[in-house]
Amino acid sequence: MKNRVTEIFNIEKPFIQGPLNSLTNPEFIASVSEAGGLGILGPNAGEARITRSPIETTERMRKEIKKIKQLTNKPFASTIMVSEDLTYTYYIVDMLIEENVPVVLINGLLDEEIFKKLKQNDMKIIFRPLTPTTANAKASEAMGADVFVATGFDEGGTVPERVIGTFSIVPMIVDAVSIPVIAAGGIGDVRGVRASFSLGAEGVYVGSVLIPTFENPAAENVKQYIVNSKAEDLILFRTLPAYYRSLPGKLARELEAMDKNGETNENIAKHMGAGKNMRLGMVEGDTENGYVSVGTGISPIQSIRSVKAVIDDLMQDFKN
Ligand SMILES: Cc1cc2nc3c(=O)[nH]c(=O)nc-3n(C[C@H](O)[C@H](O)[C@H](O)COP(=O)(O)O)c2cc1C
Repeated sequence: MKNRVTEIFNIEKPFIQGPLNSLTNPEFIASVSEAGGLGILGPNAGEARITRSPIETTERMRKEIKKIKQLTNKPFASTIMVSEDLTYTYYIVDMLIEENVPVVLINGLLDEEIFKKLKQNDMKIIFRPLTPTTANAKASEAMGADVFVATGFDEGGTVPERVIGTFSIVPMIVDAVSIPVIAAGGIGDVRGVRASFSLGAEGVYVGSVLIPTFENPAAENVKQYIVNSKAEDLILFRTLPAYYRSLPGKLARELEAMDKNGETNENIAKHMGAGKNMRLGMVEGDTENGYVSVGTGISPIQSIRSVKAVIDDLMQDFKN
């Protein structure tokens, strides 16, 4: 079934996989695109060692993009990795143009030159700020974004700075812009997809539900831990930029205690060790000393399945 989102991206189902830091790799991304959705290459995909070097990041991304192209002929997307020094971001944009990546995810950066360059090269733009507002939705539309991702506080990973759930953020943004709005945060089964569309979304953007899949690089014990957990098990604590969630473990409990004891967000963030301790918890499977980040939509997940089975199930109303 076609709609504006499938038409814009030239995909079969309006299903978009959010980047998941080190929990993606070319095989996983290609499996999403092969199943009719849109896979997105994120930071540190397929890499055992986290780098903060923008040049190394760009060349790693080029290598991963070449691998994705070998695995699928279907459309996929990449992030542009917003760095403090925009020279490096421009370097990544040029690489994505050279590699003919059809869709680009921009995380919050409203830079006219980047939008213009991507548009001139016929590339589609997904705009996703960490904290969606009517103002940044309108601004991105005016700059040429093709779709806008409205993320609710229910999401896994770094949650928006404002505590507005998916149920409230989606209609607010839908009413503010004319471009298609894609719902993100807490979508765990077909009911979440149907609810998103009822709220006016024209696509879904998911992360957590794709972690307990055969193709995802998460550790086996982590996949099972997610299957065995419910939203009510999640620990929420303050950090930078605002809040974060983890399934229970020693580190998550320490972070929760630091929050209760009034520690600063900076100190909590330092102890959290973002990226490094996500890898330790989720890829290496040390759920005590690392953290396990997922959103509140995990409750309906019953088993570890293939990416295609998850997409077919969630998108059962979108048969061709
Ligand atoms: C473990 C994990 C890591 C994530 N890492 C990133 C990231 O590096 N960049 C990004 O833009 N979003 C990241 N996200 C957010 C997802 O792309 C997506 O917005 C989110 O998973 C949607 O909410 P859901 O998990 O409830 O489906 C991450 C999410 C999770 C669960």
